[in-house]
Amino acid sequence: MAVELMRAEHITKAFSGVPALKDVRFSLNAGEVHALLGENGAGKSTLVKILAGVYTKDEGTIWVGGAEVESLTPKKAADLGIAIIHQELNLCSHLSVAENIFLGREVTRSKGWLLNKRAANDEARKILQGLNIDIDPETVVGQLQVSKQQMVEIAKALSQNARILIMDEPTSALTSSEIEELFRIVRSLKEKGHGIIYISHRLEELQHIVDRATILRDGNHVTTLNYSETTMQELISHMVGRSITEKFPHVKCPVGKTVLEVKNLNAGRMVRDISFELREGEIVGIAGLMGAGRTEMTRALYGIDKKQSGEIILDGRAITIRKPSDSIQQGIVLVPEDRKKDGLFTRLSIRNNIGMPNLDLISSYFGIVSKTREKDMAHKCRDDLKIRLASIEYDSANLSGGNQQKVVVGKWMARNFRAALFDEPTRGIDVAAKVEIYNIINRLKQQGMGILFVSSELPEILGFADRILVMCDGRITGDLLRKDATQEIILDLATRFEKKIA
Ligand SMILES: Nc1ncnc2c1ncn2[C@@H]1O[C@H](COP(=O)(O)OP(=O)(O)OP(=O)(O)O)[C@@H](O)[C@H]1O
Ligand SMILES: [Mg+2]
Repeated sequence: MAVELMRAEHITKAFSGVPALKDVRFSLNAGEVHALLGENGAGKSTLVKILAGVYTKDEGTIWVGGAEVESLTPKKAADLGIAIIHQELNLCSHLSVAENIFLGREVTRSKGWLLNKRAANDEARKILQGLNIDIDPETVVGQLQVSKQQMVEIAKALSQNARILIMDEPTSALTSSEIEELFRIVRSLKEKGHGIIYISHRLEELQHIVDRATILRDGNHVTTLNYSETTMQELISHMVGRSITEKFPHVKCPVGKTVLEVKNLNAGRMVRDISFELREGEIVGIAGLMGAGRTEMTRALYGIDKKQSGEIILDGRAITIRKPSDSIQQGIVLVPEDRKKDGLFTRLSIRNNIGMPNLDLISSYFGIVSKTREKDMAHKCRDDLKIRLASIEYDSANLSGGNQQKVVVGKWMARNFRAALFDEPTRGIDVAAKVEIYNIINRLKQQGMGILFVSSELPEILGFADRILVMCDGRITGDLLRKDATQEIILDLATRFEKKIA
């Protein structure tokens, strides 16, 4: 008999009258990974936040270890052994790993009033070693890769003796080897009898760790099933209410003249002598391992980071880009990788977020912004991208993760531009919405724009791009046509490190 760690029934929650969860049930056993699946905005994060005491439920009952718990707060949840690793990581980047792990309950000397750094470091080191994680507890968190930061979050949860671990899209920013590392940890936690609630849009990875799956749609509980007894098609149709046949819709269209040409671009250590051409009606995928310099390349090109040298030619004309506004004016737009940091003003409304980069289009000759035009633009964006939101006047921070990403993509669609740089645009986006984003990009391609598309998911690049550039260590190591590219060839090119001269 499985030992039940937690059970929730009839959970209902609304935000300002708009329902996010309706009569949802969920349970978690010891030694189980229970996946929570559903489209963007289905209510997954809301449910786990209720289970972790971050949000209060409107109705329903929660039992932990067989006992009913009234009004769960974050503190109470932590005391009950529930820890949540949020969709957007939550560490203090200027503090060390050990300081983050013990934040808010600092390890003190025996008298209990002096912070003991060494004891904290030792304790943190022990926890990290126990998980086989190779991180120095004294490292400043901001210097760690996202994957390592995630490991620190897990270590933090375990240091609080968490029995129930909630992971909200833990792998969305990880490479395949980092995912394996995470799964190794998840499996060992499972063996130790922990229960894990696991949210992910990367359905292919579920088979490696998941025992049961619960699917939510529009805040409703659709079904809970044993993972081994289901198929991917079945999961998807439960999630979206229909089946999706074409995973990566690729459209053929004539390739026109060169839109964007980059010659010998150098910037910092990670952008080295980059040259390529992007033509009308072409989607060029940029493949490479994490840290290959793909994001750095788009940032330098766009004018966020300083260029050391290089030429940029748009429609046959040399242009100067010193800052992002130069880019936008010239007709090059960027959808950045880190939506929370670079793509979205989370304290502003959705309407403002969409209007902001398009002020030139919605203001009068005298520079007065037309609220009506801004509203129209935001509504059009919402409809085009099927963004799930109650009102465009809401703070964008209240959108579900995937819907935030849609706003970041959508705000550019109101403009005429010539080239678009998409950096991991489908990260954290559900299966159905991904296809919507592919269709939008395909539309841009058919209108004769040039598209640069950075992605860490090889099947996506192989399925969607017309041509593929491979990067390794800041350089371009391969330029492949769609028909010539395979996963193996790309991986080989992605690991062509320059031989160091001894
Ligand atoms: N703090 C909040 N205020 C208002 N509305 C909210 C808030 N948090 C969530 N919502 C709304 O509740 C609904 C469910 O959101 P939730 O974040 O739970 O979705 P999700 O399933 O986690 O989606 P994703 O896969 O995109 O992360 C959405 O419509 C969202 O806009
Ligand atoms: Mg979410």
